[in-house]
Amino acid sequence: MAMLELENVHSYYGNIHALKGISLTVEQGEIVTLIGANGAGKSSTLRTISGILRHRAGSVTFEGQDLSQYPAHKIVNLGISQVPEGRGVFAQLTVMENLEMGAFVRTDKKEINDDIDHVFSLFPRLKERQNQVSGTLSGGEQQMLATGRALMARPKLLLMDEPSMGLAPILVDSIFETIVNINKEGTTILLVEQNALMALQIAHRGYVIQTGEIVLTDNAESLKSNKMVREAYLGH
Ligand SMILES: Nc1ncnc2c1ncn2[C@@H]1O[C@H](COP(=O)(O)OP(=O)(O)OP(=O)(O)O)[C@@H](O)[C@H]1O
Ligand SMILES: [Mg+2]
Repeated sequence: MAMLELENVHSYYGNIHALKGISLTVEQGEIVTLIGANGAGKSSTLRTISGILRHRAGSVTFEGQDLSQYPAHKIVNLGISQVPEGRGVFAQLTVMENLEMGAFVRTDKKEINDDIDHVFSLFPRLKERQNQVSGTLSGGEQQMLATGRALMARPKLLLMDEPSMGLAPILVDSIFETIVNINKEGTTILLVEQNALMALQIAHRGYVIQTGEIVLTDNAESLKSNKMVREAYLGH
């Protein structure tokens, strides 16, 4: 049984049919990437998994449990955290307060402090800035904070929505390196990216989504050399 399984999932915004029968799986321990153009349905797929957008047909199953029965905050409890698109940190709160918010599902005070230290070791910049109000962090620092906050829930599965967006190339390299490290520590990752090349460099497998449908899936190596992927997403 896969850790996460979407089967023929349909999601709508009003009468806009955003996901038209998405099926995908993520196995425990994997980095799986979902690549596609603007408006293809990548964020909608993540929102459907995390329960922010409720699917109208099909099924979403996590560790054997049907997620349609749970509200979004319960889905966090089950072990799924999302790093939202555009970062979404609490701008008025400090770095430290944002990290504490990320642990809202937990009560183990001592371990929460250990995890804050762990986030600081992944992102030393956040440690230097721990008392700074988050709205004044740079874009890259906010991305680090959003990732750190999601990790504070100790997720089994981390959903990441375009972590490279708006970052300078050197920061993109460092955030992708961190994603690999997080995965090596045991967290399974579903990574949405427009930067298909970077995503395929760190992922085990991938799916290509077009206008709400999966049009291709393969291991990352094969996707990198696939003609359609190269023409549409890798600029060849
Ligand atoms: N809140 C909303 N209300 C209405 N339509 C929406 C809403 N959010 C997304 N959509 C529509 O759903 C479709 C899929 O959008 P989605 O945000 O999932 O795309 P995406 O692949 O994440 O794109 P991008 O790369 O630009 O972030 C698009 O046609 C979009 O216009
Ligand atoms: Mg998106």
